Amino acid sequence: MAQNDSQNGFVRFLRECFIIDFDKPLSIKNQFTIMFVTLFISVALFSVVYGISVLSHPLDIAEAAAASDESSDSSAKKNQVSEPEIKPAVLLKKMTSITRSAEQIHEGYLILVNKDNSCYHNGENVISLLGDNVKSDSYMVTDDSVRLDEGIVDNVNAMFDDFYSIYGENSVIMACGFRSEELQQELFDDEINSKGETEGEMWVAPPGYSEHQTGYAFDLDLLLEEGTSGIDYDGQGIYSWINENSSQYGFILRYPEGKDDITGYEYEPWHFRYVGVPEALYITEHGLTLEEYIKTVQAHNVNDPILIKDRGDGEKMWCTYFVPADKDGGDTKVPVPVEYDYTVSGDNISGFIVTVQLK
Ligand code: DAL
Ligand code: ZN
Repeated sequence: MAQNDSQNGFVRFLRECFIIDFDKPLSIKNQFTIMFVTLFISVALFSVVYGISVLSHPLDIAEAAAASDESSDSSAKKNQVSEPEIKPAVLLKKMTSITRSAEQIHEGYLILVNKDNSCYHNGENVISLLGDNVKSDSYMVTDDSVRLDEGIVDNVNAMFDDFYSIYGENSVIMACGFRSEELQQELFDDEINSKGETEGEMWVAPPGYSEHQTGYAFDLDLLLEEGTSGIDYDGQGIYSWINENSSQYGFILRYPEGKDDITGYEYEPWHFRYVGVPEALYITEHGLTLEEYIKTVQAHNVNDPILIKDRGDGEKMWCTYFVPADKDGGDTKVPVPVEYDYTVSGDNISGFIVTVQLK
């Protein structure tokens, strides 16, 4: 009998809910039940739709992480980089691998060349800014012997073009780019002869150990008056714009003030080095030397990459990780993502640095 009653109640409920008799008002209990069921179905539908959209657009996770970082940091500055809440490894789900030979740890824009790590290049890809007619009109060069790696010329031009468009000043001279080992030997000997060994070695690298030999570094001077000789570039006044914005174009100030115990050289406000845009942003934002950056990346493998954000116009985002070279000197399989653009550079020491453009 009780079972019949409950069956009748259920049937009545169905009749009231789904076969609505407008002449007869719903009971209070069933009104609440309908509201509850409607709410439950809405929440369930929302969860399913949201889950599908997150799974099919993994970058949304990174965007959400970036947004949450931004809202929790009201003093966020342009180009600020910060540690992610969500590790970008989750974004690199589809991976493949490429092969790199042992010699290739000495190639790429992130190679560390210093007193401990010699340069394996000797001007293979350099071109003359003047002689090859690739220089923009926004700056000067000493003569056609000034050469740079072909791949960084557009970035050099873009930086000086932007500086010129702001200040209308083309007094910057690119005084020196690529140096052969032989030229470095001459400069080194001259410096040691004039300053003595201890002092001279803090300013000029020994032959074979100068990053000018990579073609990725250059020195600036200033020519303020026609007919005068150039004076040392100090990055002061309007020129501070160059030192403050060079990272946007992939350049770092390679020998910063107070870091001579790490770099091995005194402060050189005129010496810039190309490392790539994301790397330059990270290095500059964190006040690192290239030595410190390489050491930092070496501690992050593909499962624990570093996230780099550009909070400037483009809202770009990258991640970077280290892959140790095969310890027996054979080929190394370097894991790389299928879905994103990436670059691979040797560190000139023990492995490869992969930088992935997430957006
Ligand atoms: N002045 C820098 C250290 C060089 O000679 O490469
Ligand atoms: Zn230099």
